[in-house]
Parts: sequence; structure tokens; C-alpha cells
Amino acid sequence: MLTIKSIDYKVVFEESLNSLVSFIQQRSYSQVIVLVDTNTREYCLPILQETLGDQVSFDIVEVDPGEENKNIDYCVGVWQTLLDFGADRNALLINLGGGVVTDLGGFVASTYKRGIDFVQVPTTILSQVDAFVGGKTGIDMDHLKNVIGTFTQPKSVFISTRFLNTLNTRQQKSGLAEIIKHGLIFSKPIYEKAKNIATDKIDQELIFQSVEVKNEVIKQDPKEKNIRKILNFGHTVGHAIEAYSLSHDKDPLLHGEAIAMGMICEAYLSHLLNDLSSEELEDITQTFLQQFPFYEYSASIYPELLKLMQNDKKNQNHEIGFSLLNSIGKCDYNIYASESDIISALDYYKTFREDNR
Ligand SMILES: NC(=O)c1ccc[n+]([C@@H]2O[C@H](COP(=O)([O-])OP(=O)(O)OC[C@H]3O[C@@H](n4cnc5c(N)ncnc54)[C@H](O)[C@@H]3O)[C@@H](O)[C@H]2O)c1
Repeated sequence: MLTIKSIDYKVVFEESLNSLVSFIQQRSYSQVIVLVDTNTREYCLPILQETLGDQVSFDIVEVDPGEENKNIDYCVGVWQTLLDFGADRNALLINLGGGVVTDLGGFVASTYKRGIDFVQVPTTILSQVDAFVGGKTGIDMDHLKNVIGTFTQPKSVFISTRFLNTLNTRQQKSGLAEIIKHGLIFSKPIYEKAKNIATDKIDQELIFQSVEVKNEVIKQDPKEKNIRKILNFGHTVGHAIEAYSLSHDKDPLLHGEAIAMGMICEAYLSHLLNDLSSEELEDITQTFLQQFPFYEYSASIYPELLKLMQNDKKNQNHEIGFSLLNSIGKCDYNIYASESDIISALDYYKTFREDNR
């Protein structure tokens, strides 16, 4: 069993999840409630049930899966169910799912009766390496990502790679994007290890190393006043493209796919506005082009993308803020780009259309 000490809670890496049982038994919760989505109910709940066995009884709340459901309506549904279950302030919520469930469940728990305890049991690569770490809870509104939320730390986090076997390749790759990002901003060795990896080779060690990076950064700056901003590399453009795709595409981009595209654009900005060399820009661009599908768009969507970026939480005085690489493994923050720089970055990505390569 491996553990990482985060701000004021423990992250436990353990295939069996036995520590979750002892965690619950050591506390006198009035009730235990597990939040799942339809998929994690089918694929992950049996694993949890096997672990909790007869030792811990619990109720289940289920939501529909997908980013389009990470919204206030679903929170109302979960709050209502907690009320129907008679959950008091001493109840525990276990969020069993990907980033949507851990974000939404964390937000619901942090606000229900002014806050009840919750633990995260992330079940996708993305949520294991990223979504649960750092206490950001949240939901989307008006096509804007994570605009409503809190900083609330879970009581503990339990990570088991047993959950990952039922993920499809697309979802596995989505998580890989965030592992590669952790390498780009903080650790060249992690980048080199992750950049060409086959998804079935992503193991507990790489997940652990990736969590260590994020944990190190958030411990220094829990409320994102300074260095924590480097975790947003790729996310200014990436969140805009993700929100755009969610509201326009029948089969929208996954979070990691949008962030991968965002990282190509922001690597370009890193070359333009910071010190990233042209060789490293090329290396990063090829890494993401090889690992992720190309997203087609025309310049006619730029005004909408720019409007979405203008609502980004990192902006100041109406300027669009970026975290940009200095070199692979090192990232700076609070760099502001003009609209024409951002358009050049979006144009740069477009030049890699299949038929142009
Ligand atoms: N709070 C943070 O700091 C933070 C950081 C990064 C991302 N996020 C958020 O995370 C979300 C994306 O997370 P995600 O990619 O995990 O998305 P997700 O929760 O939508 O999961 C992806 C899909 O996989 C299914 N699924 C989950 N676990 C499964 C399993 N073990 N087997 C089979 N299917 C399974 C889900 O039902 C869903 O359909 C976004 O909303 C993003 O904003 C939050």
C-alpha cells in the first residue's frame, strides 16, 4: 500500500480498498451513502460491494453519466435524495466515479447541511490522477466549465487500479492527457515516460507519480493564488473547446481530448510569449497529435471560443490569462495573451489537419 499525505487528508493507493473499510469503522457515521453514475453502478459498485461486504451498510444515489449532467439540476436531485434518506450532518458520502461524480459529489457534500464528510473513490484514470486531487469541487453552468464550486478537501481518497479495466481506450487516453500535462509542467522524466505509452501500460506507479506532482503543487498553494495556476496549462483553450464541443457536437470531446488540443495551442503560445524552444514545441505537438484524434474546426468558431475564454476564472482586468511552459518540466503563470496571439495559436493547430500533414 502506498500513501500520499495531502493538505489534511491521506491518499491511499491500494488494490483491495480494505483501508476504506477501516476508515469507516474508525468513525461513527450515522449513515453511509454512495454516489454513482449509471456506468459506475454497473462496473465499479460490485467491486466496492465486495470490499465493504457485510461490514458496512450503505444507501445508493445514482445520476446519469456525462459532463452534460454536471449541473445544478443533478445536484438538486442528489440533495433531495439525501433529504429523503434522512441524512444528517454526520453522514458520509462516498463518491464512486470519474471526475463528473467526484466534482459533483464533492460540491453536493460541501454544501448539504453546510457540509458533510465525503471521500473520493475515483474510477477513471483522469479522476485518479487529477480530478479528485486538490479539493476543487464544482459544476458547470451556462456552458461554462466549473463556474460554480467550492474548495473543500475530502476526508480521504482511495485509489485502486482494479476499476480501470472496464474503461474504453478513449477514456483511458483522456486520463493520459493529464498525466502528460503533469510531466510537461513539473517533471521531464514523467513526460518522457508517458508521451508514447500504450494505455494498457498505465500502471499504479505512473498514477502515483502523477498524483505526487499535483499534490506537491497544491500543497504549496491550496487556493490557487500563485503556483497552483501551472496546473491550468492547456486548460484556457482546452476548457473553451470542451464547452464549445459540448454545446455543438453530437459526440462531444472528452475532457482530456479537449485539454490535449488546448496543450498544443498553449505550447505554441509558450513558444511565442515564453521561452519554449521550437524543438520542444515540435516534440509536444507531435506527442498529442499521435495520441489523440484531430478536432476539425473553422475560423468561424473563434469569436465563440474567445468569448468562452473571456469568462475563464484565471483572467484579470479583462485580459486572458495563461500558464505557459518555459521548457518541458517547467511552467510559468500569469502570462497574458492578446486575442491575435490566441488566434495564431488556434490557426497553428489547424495546420495539422490530416491532409496537411
Ligand atoms: N476537480 C478538479 O480538480 C478536476 C480536475 C480535472 C478534471 N476535472 C473534471 O473531471 C471531469 C472529467 O472526468 P472523467 O474523464 O473521469 O469523466 P466522467 O466522470 O464523465 O467519466 C467518463 C465516463 O466513464 C464512465 N466510467 C467511470 N468510471 C468507469 C469505469 N471504471 N468503467 C467504465 N466506465 C466508467 C463514466 O460513467 C463516464 O461515462 C470533467 O468534468 C472535469 O472538469 C476536475
